[in-house]
Amino acid sequence: LENGVARTPPMGWNSWNTFGCNINETLIRGMADAIVNSGLRDLGYQYVVVDDCWFNPNRDSSGNLQGDPSRFPSGMKALGDYLHGKGLKFGIYEAPLDKTCGQYFGSYPGATGSGGHETQDARQFAAWGVDYLKYDWCSPTGSINDQVTVFSRMRDALAATGRPIVYSINPNSVHAKTGPQRNWGDVANLWRTTEDIQNMWNGGQANNYPMGVQNIVDVTVPLAGYAGPGHFNDPDMLEVGRGGGMNDTEMRSHFALWAMLAAPLLAGNDIRSMNAATTTILGNRNLIAIDQDSLGLQATQVSNDGTRRVLAKRLANGDVAVALFNQGGSTTTVSTTAAAIGKAGSSFTLLDAWTGAVNTTSGAISASVPAHGTVVYRVSGTGSSSPAAPSSTPPSSPPVS
Ligand code: GLA
Repeated sequence: LENGVARTPPMGWNSWNTFGCNINETLIRGMADAIVNSGLRDLGYQYVVVDDCWFNPNRDSSGNLQGDPSRFPSGMKALGDYLHGKGLKFGIYEAPLDKTCGQYFGSYPGATGSGGHETQDARQFAAWGVDYLKYDWCSPTGSINDQVTVFSRMRDALAATGRPIVYSINPNSVHAKTGPQRNWGDVANLWRTTEDIQNMWNGGQANNYPMGVQNIVDVTVPLAGYAGPGHFNDPDMLEVGRGGGMNDTEMRSHFALWAMLAAPLLAGNDIRSMNAATTTILGNRNLIAIDQDSLGLQATQVSNDGTRRVLAKRLANGDVAVALFNQGGSTTTVSTTAAAIGKAGSSFTLLDAWTGAVNTTSGAISASVPAHGTVVYRVSGTGSSSPAAPSSTPPSSPPVS
């Protein structure tokens, strides 16, 4: 969507994965403080998205949405002001029909979806200082064409406010998984490709609950052609640092693959209490640079034998990021070549995004990769065509670890 925002995939934090409906203004402000104090804001994590269940289940007498007065007593405008005062941006959740997902599933009262109130609600969001709207279908009814019509109404209502607002849609909730069925770039900045991510590696199904990292990658890789500045596939929020569901190798893979997919990087963990391993993953500057590259391209698939999968993402300075992904259950060597990822020449440097190690190669690219692991190299080099040129410098900042 050409509305001036999301020229690179938005980064930030969302309340849903850890807190569900248990949110209030103290929590959100505390998280904002932690995002700043941990250094994540300065790495690009900007959008603080207040997900479902923030609102009063009744509109006011003029039909306006209101924050829930007991949990957001200062009001939503004050929350937006607080976030802006911290150098952050304000995201909020709504639904296009009558009910949000919390309301649909009965975990939250009321029916305060934006259906029929699009103009009024968009103006309200703008007045509160909202910078990002997550808009969630959450109904079993409606064809894909109905979804296009209804999602476009809010797109237009947001545009009419004049405030730049990232527009993130989810066509899949409680629905026939229409996310991967079209290029939604005319409707939204971001569109979810699958059902909700779970804190797990593999839920065992193609595009049905429960979705693990492997399953979401399987659905999202073929959609590479849809991604570009202003319009990105959204493989859902991060489960990094949530504990339990995945080991460290899998969490690192999750983050690396999201960066390769030019995915929004929305942390879903409790930033106030994250451990060093989580900080290292979310703070990896090499991977953030790959995700945030100005070309906005999603990695395309180079090869996949079912176990060894190779993805490549072209970057603005001529480098190519390559992911060597081991989908199997034991350590294996994953290999490709500079030529296969579109780099001509005979001399290249490989920056390992995780270790920061730099090696040279005449074309072979390979690594021993643990089960469910992903090694990412940033491949630079002009090769034999300019033998006198120095090898390209690695990305501006060193890795965090
Ligand atoms: C849907 C969305 C989730 C979250 C919940 C809130 O399931 O896909 O990301 O927003 O609704 O109820």
